[in-house]
Amino acid sequence: MSDIYKCWLPEKNDKRLALWKSYFTSVYADSSDKTTQTAVRELRRAARIRTSSERTGEGFALVTDESLGAGGYRIGITDSEIVIAGGDGSGKLYGVLRFLTLAAGSMLKSKTLCETPAYPLRIVDHWDNADGTVERGYSGGSLFFREDRVSDDNEALTDYARLLASVGINAVCPNNVNVHDTETLFITDRYLGDFARIAKIFRGYGIRLFLSVNFAAPTQIGGLDTADPLDDSVRKWWSSAAAEIYRRIPDFGGFVVKADSEGRPGPHTYGRDHADGANMLAEALAPYGGAVIWRCFVYNCRTDRNDRSTDRAKAAYDNFLPLDGRFADNVYLQIKNGPMDFQIREPVSPLFGALNKTNMLAEFQITQEYTGQQIDLCYLVPMWKECLDFGKRHGQVKDRIQGAAGVSNTGDGAFLTGNPLAGANLYGFGRLLFDPEQSADRIAAEWVCASITTNKIAAVEIVCMLVRSREIYESYTSPLGVGWMVVPGTHYGVDVDGYEYSRWGTYHYADGDGIGADRTQATGTGYTAQYDSVNARLYEDIKTCPDELLLFFHHVPYTHVLHSGKTVIQHIYDSHFEGAEQAAGLLKDWKSLESYIPADIYAECLHRFELQAANSENWRDVVNTYFFRKSGIPDSHGRKIYE
Ligand code: GCU
Repeated sequence: MSDIYKCWLPEKNDKRLALWKSYFTSVYADSSDKTTQTAVRELRRAARIRTSSERTGEGFALVTDESLGAGGYRIGITDSEIVIAGGDGSGKLYGVLRFLTLAAGSMLKSKTLCETPAYPLRIVDHWDNADGTVERGYSGGSLFFREDRVSDDNEALTDYARLLASVGINAVCPNNVNVHDTETLFITDRYLGDFARIAKIFRGYGIRLFLSVNFAAPTQIGGLDTADPLDDSVRKWWSSAAAEIYRRIPDFGGFVVKADSEGRPGPHTYGRDHADGANMLAEALAPYGGAVIWRCFVYNCRTDRNDRSTDRAKAAYDNFLPLDGRFADNVYLQIKNGPMDFQIREPVSPLFGALNKTNMLAEFQITQEYTGQQIDLCYLVPMWKECLDFGKRHGQVKDRIQGAAGVSNTGDGAFLTGNPLAGANLYGFGRLLFDPEQSADRIAAEWVCASITTNKIAAVEIVCMLVRSREIYESYTSPLGVGWMVVPGTHYGVDVDGYEYSRWGTYHYADGDGIGADRTQATGTGYTAQYDSVNARLYEDIKTCPDELLLFFHHVPYTHVLHSGKTVIQHIYDSHFEGAEQAAGLLKDWKSLESYIPADIYAECLHRFELQAANSENWRDVVNTYFFRKSGIPDSHGRKIYE
């Protein structure tokens, strides 16, 4: 099991809390609900402190102030007292954990701090399988499962719940969206006792349990001959399944569903649509206040590259927009940030701007499947902010969603997030959902100070590394938004044509003359029409399309001149040479910080920076050679390109 405290929360009797010693005398709380009790306990485990039944004007006071709203808190510091007011118990807990984080990072600057979470639903989705493996996991095995059993390491799970709560996460789904045979049984007697235990642990931290379910469960484990959502026996089956779940877990969050996607069963088998499917499950959960989180990652994964009229990027919008207004109130559509699949650069999914009568959650991938697999440094908060900020004024994605789901990057390896520096992404995901207006730099700075070092100079250096990391990774991998070019299956490392002739709908169409997917209305797939008129025009017109997305939207000759003034081919060469250089620079920078960083974290990251440097060189050489061979155009700076 990972040492959770390698992350941002202070350890027991952490030296860094010494500054606050005079307050750790007593703690008073004005209520005794579960999460308030947890908040008190958290202070007591951080430092020696006694509970007091009266407010004395000294030490800590945890008080209720409903005006702060659900999960809201206010920290007020006077000379003798730290008052943590919460809109509810969770608010008090968030206030306490935030105080401890900022105190550990020497980041508590002002005397008051007040926040209310921006969204009601802040969920971390795990892609963990019953056998203990983690799909797209780069941090070891599952925290929740091993050998088809639910973990009984309650202490480790409590530590994990604490960590998630410290950044305001209020829902967790432990199992993979791809629900295989064993996991289909998770909603039955065989597993519900264990999940009730897990739910109890997380409940103490204000976190509700969700489970991913198999849409075909009625046929697979229920003895029915159909899973048709409009069939009465199917509806009854799900209703009684829900009744049993809620009997054991009264605050169960609900179901996460991947249906009619990448081979998973769904309503299409029965000639029904996604609204029929989602509403049927929603009806079963509604009496208990549960929700259905229905994923929009639905596309044809058996496309024909030669049929240029189909476009995977269009699929989510085409599948779901016609259903706008038909989903029950307790259904949330979960939409990946981009229209393809978590590439390092994609436009924002147009579905966010188009659905007007449907609850939406953004889906971000904290785990770095296509973004370096926690080997290469890639701080993703800037990318997520681009998604949240996208759209018309007052109609930006951040104003339209009810929350977000983050695909977890955690596991039971030596470090919770594999690469210790990937902790910034888990932290940043939670913090952004509390307040999407915070800057990515500020979030990084808080995280670095609480997790890595409080030395100012070293912290600034690491923040700079984090903040530049996404662009560095982008520069040595696939160019100008075209995506993919990764090794099929594993999705790590370069293979320019790895997906080019496959069935997955992920093509760059590079030939001797040019590269890019034409998604215009004029001559291409018409994808640009899915955006509002302003963005549709912006992307449609090659003159206004942003450079970084050019090849996502247009097929252009290698000699096309970018806004930067460079030709496409020269951009490819330059960015790959520079990217590899910058990756080597990260390694150098890291080495210069050795004396400021805990030895185990230093060594682990050092190893990863070495791998990243080698990876970037490989990408550089393969990509440059590939495009030199295709285009026949030499590098204008005459650098070494292997033939
Ligand atoms: C990606 C990923 C899969 C995952 C899928 C999903 O395609 O490679 O492992 O199952 O996304 O989001 O459902």
